[in-house]
Amino acid sequence: MSDTCAALPIVVLISGSGTNLQAIIDAARSGELPVDICAVISNRPAAAGLDRARAAGIQAEALDHREFDGREDFDRALAERIDAHAPALVVLAGFMRILTPGFVRHYHGRLLNIHPSLLPDFRGLNTHARVIEAGVDCHGASVHFVADELDGGPVVLQVEVPVHAGDTVETLAARVLEQEHRLYPLAIRWFAEGRLQLQNGTAILDGKPLNAPCLLDADTGALKRCP
Ligand code: GRF
Repeated sequence: MSDTCAALPIVVLISGSGTNLQAIIDAARSGELPVDICAVISNRPAAAGLDRARAAGIQAEALDHREFDGREDFDRALAERIDAHAPALVVLAGFMRILTPGFVRHYHGRLLNIHPSLLPDFRGLNTHARVIEAGVDCHGASVHFVADELDGGPVVLQVEVPVHAGDTVETLAARVLEQEHRLYPLAIRWFAEGRLQLQNGTAILDGKPLNAPCLLDADTGALKRCP
């Protein structure tokens, strides 16, 4: 990534394969996402997403949470690493750690997450298995600002994904992930363009409060609803 461009500086936090990171890298490279990815940081040194970052010429850093005494210590060290890059936005892309309230407060209004469910339904882990178990026929993904409550901050953008008879966790996860790769770059783009903010606990898009999340059409990739 160029460090001379006027794009929004971001840091991406990952724990795993980093396919959402790849979607962000690809969108930035193609010019449709005006961000400069200053660094990718993983709490798991073996995360494949770090290789994706390196392959794209982005600084890749590991900060192993197992080397810290507790969440507070780890989050403090993580914030130091992040702040060394002075990002305007911190993007959680499959970062599988519960964050301390101090960390969340520090990045208030500039911390986004993607979660594989239609929030507020199915917060927490193993969403695809729980969706299949519950027998619901509509699943999806959500991008939200991070607040104190786990997966509980204001939701900005969602996409609905059908659950098919005979779906396994793998087939359903793959269908959702494909949509996540569209969803996240779009929400980040809104933030980078100054169209999206968090004000008094409410997500604001183009100056208007998002009383309900915007909804992307899974078939066309166009916005289906945006209050
Ligand atoms: C995604 O499903 C994301 O919603 C969740 O973790 C997964 C990360 O996948 N938070 P990847 O590492 O981006 O491939």
